[in-house]
Amino acid sequence: MPTKIIEDRDVEFPPKKGVPESLSSLVTLQSKGSIFDIDLILDSLKKDKVVLIEEVKGEDVDQLMYDVAAKFGLTDTLKLQSAFASSLGHRENISRYYMSVNKRNDYHIVPPHSEGSTFADIQLASFYCFENDTDGGETILLNVDESSHVWESLREFVLRGKFEGTPTAGQISKIRAMLRLNLLEDTLQEDDKIINECKVDSKLTVFEVLAKPKKSYSRILEQQRYVFWDSLSAVDHDSLKFMEELLRHNGLFNEPPNYSGLDQIDWDPARRLIHSGINYEQLFKHKITLKLKPGDFIIQNNLSWTHSVANWSPGRGIRKVAAAFA
Ligand SMILES: [Fe+2]
Repeated sequence: MPTKIIEDRDVEFPPKKGVPESLSSLVTLQSKGSIFDIDLILDSLKKDKVVLIEEVKGEDVDQLMYDVAAKFGLTDTLKLQSAFASSLGHRENISRYYMSVNKRNDYHIVPPHSEGSTFADIQLASFYCFENDTDGGETILLNVDESSHVWESLREFVLRGKFEGTPTAGQISKIRAMLRLNLLEDTLQEDDKIINECKVDSKLTVFEVLAKPKKSYSRILEQQRYVFWDSLSAVDHDSLKFMEELLRHNGLFNEPPNYSGLDQIDWDPARRLIHSGINYEQLFKHKITLKLKPGDFIIQNNLSWTHSVANWSPGRGIRKVAAAFA
């Protein structure tokens, strides 16, 4: 029998398909009462690691998140995200900064995404687990390959504005706050694909477009990088397809009875507009799979790490995980 010589010990043989698990990207810390080593968390984030702290008490999570956010100058965003989420009504505030995750129905899965959009520019994502005794509901964090060639084929759902004449500073800030549109920067680009057009008033027209991804600045990594925002993930049928395959490959897919296809597991079907056709295995470098336990606190760079959630069977336990963004 021929001998296979494996020169690189990190390469599995036969190679497994899919995104490899990277335990070395996870720093696990134990909670010591209410004292946390903020510098160690910061140092780990700067090395692009995900930090998991076990046995954190519920009453400590807000201060912990605030202290990390403060080190990156992100406390205003932390407060804004918490206020904004509840005002839209799609989330509920659980504590000062933590809010419920988006509602989903039986068997729904959430494909990988970085929270928000280029406009929202959320730098930090954190999750805190209260309860998780379902037969699924694993959290899967995927690290994005900034240099992948697939960015060319991805599109972001964004708003563009056209204003007749010159807007005043007051009009610019009102439109920014109400429509989440930056009139000065978010103007129609040559390669935008217009999906919808709406005349808001006699002067302002707003366009919903699919645009080429734009780089964002990571305060943590101090570099410009492409981000797989929710506004990219949610428009692509293929991000959901990839997630289903990833879960199946890892034995984490809970198939609904009489399963008829992706529509049955899609938590947000109304937003899907394209089939990018990309191979998502080329977008993600590695992943961390966690079955969160009560008291687990995770924090990660929202620009380099996406988050996603496996589904579970109805009536098989409760998954209560809260999120905070800054
Ligand atoms: Fe999310």
